[in-house]
Amino acid sequence: MQTQTFRIGTASVAYHFDGSFTALRSLTDRDHTVIITDENLFALHGKRFKGWNSIVLKPGEDFKVQATVDAVIEQLIDMGADRQTTLVGVGGGVVTDLTGYIASIFMRGISFGFVPTTVLALVDASIGGKNGVDVGIYKNMAGTIRQPRFILHDLAFLATLPDAEWRSGFAEIIKHAAIRDSGMFRQLESHDLTFFRKKKKELAGLIKRNALLKTRIVQADELETGDRKLLNFGHTLGHAIENQYELSHGEAISIGMGFAAALSSVLTGFRQADRVSALLEKYGLPVAADYDRAKVLDVLLKDKKKQQDTIRFVLLERLGKAVIQPIPFTQLANFI
Ligand SMILES: NC(=O)c1ccc[n+]([C@@H]2O[C@H](COP(=O)([O-])OP(=O)(O)OC[C@H]3O[C@@H](n4cnc5c(N)ncnc54)[C@H](O)[C@@H]3O)[C@@H](O)[C@H]2O)c1
Repeated sequence: MQTQTFRIGTASVAYHFDGSFTALRSLTDRDHTVIITDENLFALHGKRFKGWNSIVLKPGEDFKVQATVDAVIEQLIDMGADRQTTLVGVGGGVVTDLTGYIASIFMRGISFGFVPTTVLALVDASIGGKNGVDVGIYKNMAGTIRQPRFILHDLAFLATLPDAEWRSGFAEIIKHAAIRDSGMFRQLESHDLTFFRKKKKELAGLIKRNALLKTRIVQADELETGDRKLLNFGHTLGHAIENQYELSHGEAISIGMGFAAALSSVLTGFRQADRVSALLEKYGLPVAADYDRAKVLDVLLKDKKKQQDTIRFVLLERLGKAVIQPIPFTQLANFI
């Protein structure tokens, strides 16, 4: 296990890379800890949770809602949790988003840590302190920004990760490469998902590289007033279609990236849109979909990145270099 501590805003976050779940005992006092996980993980990795106080949620995005938050808070009260309690989210992005949010509001804020168990949560959702819930079809409409005390990686969890979730995680990895790391983009082009699933060392290296890439962006801009916005590449359209069409997060983001790369060709003179689409397809991700244009525009009108009649869109100038450009709604409507 390699431990590195990062300062994010006023918080200090300890990352334990390539570690083991058993190390959790040295990171938090078992008597004052409640694990939050979901039914899938509890069924597949039940042994690991023995001896820990656990709250087991129904899995999936449908449960990333305020009703789950209320139910967990009631359980925490029943369990006698207090200000000394640490919450540990063991799971994918749904579990980590919920855990961070609940810990941020329970008794006005208690300590929390994460054991991310999906590729997406390892490289993205566990990092940066954004937590929250969806409201209707609006993704992450309510939430907080608050950092975990620690993030513990145990890649052994990935042995049970379904194929679709691997692809979903690689959508965020490709996003990181497209906006910030052309070297990683080429590395991804020269391999495929089967390679990374087989080669533990290369996978651990890739996960760490991505976790560090996102961490550096968040360190420079925790509250998303500048460069952190670049991480929304593919997410504006992605979020608008995700909850409407039962697409996975990764699939929706992938379609969003395909769209944003094509839009970049028109608006910034980006010349590599074909390479972005080809890489997404190489990792089993879709780059186009039939969606209801009017419905999508309606959701975009309520997007958090909207300002009056324009929406701030993340575009690519070249591979590894993203920019933000305000696009008038009328113009965007023509492209969609
Ligand atoms: N906070 C952030 O900065 C941030 C960033 C990106 C995404 N997100 C959020 O993350 C969520 C998506 O995360 P996700 O894709 O990890 O989804 P998820 O948490 O729903 O996990 C996907 C599925 O995989 C299962 N699973 C998790 N780990 C497993 C394992 N090791 N073995 C077998 N099954 C396992 C889960 O039970 C679930 O069914 C979205 O809600 C998104 O908004 C947040």
